[in-house]
Amino acid sequence: MRVHVALSPSEFAEAPVSDRTVLAVDVLRATSAAVAACEAGCRRVVPVPDEAAAEALRGTDGVVLAGERGGHAISGFDLGNSPDEFTRARVEGRTVVLTTTNGTAAMMRAATGTAAALVALTNVSAAAAWARDQRRDVTVLCAGDNGAFSLEDAVCAGLLVVRLSDGEPGAELSGGAVAARALGLHYAGHLRRLATDSPWARRLAHQAREVDLAACLRQDVSTVVPVFAAGGFAAAPAERAGLAAGAAGRDGAGAGA
Ligand code: MLT
Repeated sequence: MRVHVALSPSEFAEAPVSDRTVLAVDVLRATSAAVAACEAGCRRVVPVPDEAAAEALRGTDGVVLAGERGGHAISGFDLGNSPDEFTRARVEGRTVVLTTTNGTAAMMRAATGTAAALVALTNVSAAAAWARDQRRDVTVLCAGDNGAFSLEDAVCAGLLVVRLSDGEPGAELSGGAVAARALGLHYAGHLRRLATDSPWARRLAHQAREVDLAACLRQDVSTVVPVFAAGGFAAAPAERAGLAAGAAGRDGAGAGA
């Protein structure tokens, strides 16, 4: 298996996607929010490039508009981009139309791959297991920070690479994958350090978004992998059924379905 990591959006155009499994990562916060939305039972997350494209879908098919620009919620949208906003009460059974500064561009590019999914620190082991099962070469697209490198995305990509390549003598890593892997290993077990080491994390902290940092800088709290199909990223049907059953058990009354 060949594994490539595009460390910033400037590398997307050259990054191989055909005949590949492609994963998009935007730890702070778009793919973390998408994992949370799928965990909360949304029907799918549809990435769109801008506010106008999102507004065009308002009112259709149980759509919820979500997203941010520069970290701030978009005026008139139903939700921002904080993982904690994507609760079952707000998104279960609904289509989340998402537009964000960097993350949704990476998601849309990933969707051009032969198979595509979203990865965050919160689901990195599940995403790696899913990618392995696809039995194809893998490309990881780091959403970055306004076109530039983003530390937390590279760390997450690296932890994914570790899970794909360790114990795999046939694994062939690109330079980007080797660099990401080294960063992933450096931060493994110390993910909270990213809250101070990452420039974007520090900017989010200045916006009083420490709760989001805590939510996003956690590893493997979800086994849900949002996989692209029919225009959006959705948890696999089996995952959705498991989540619904879990909610019914927790709520004791069928989750109000
Ligand atoms: C992005 O797409 O740039 C991010 O998700 C920004 C954020 O909401 O923190």
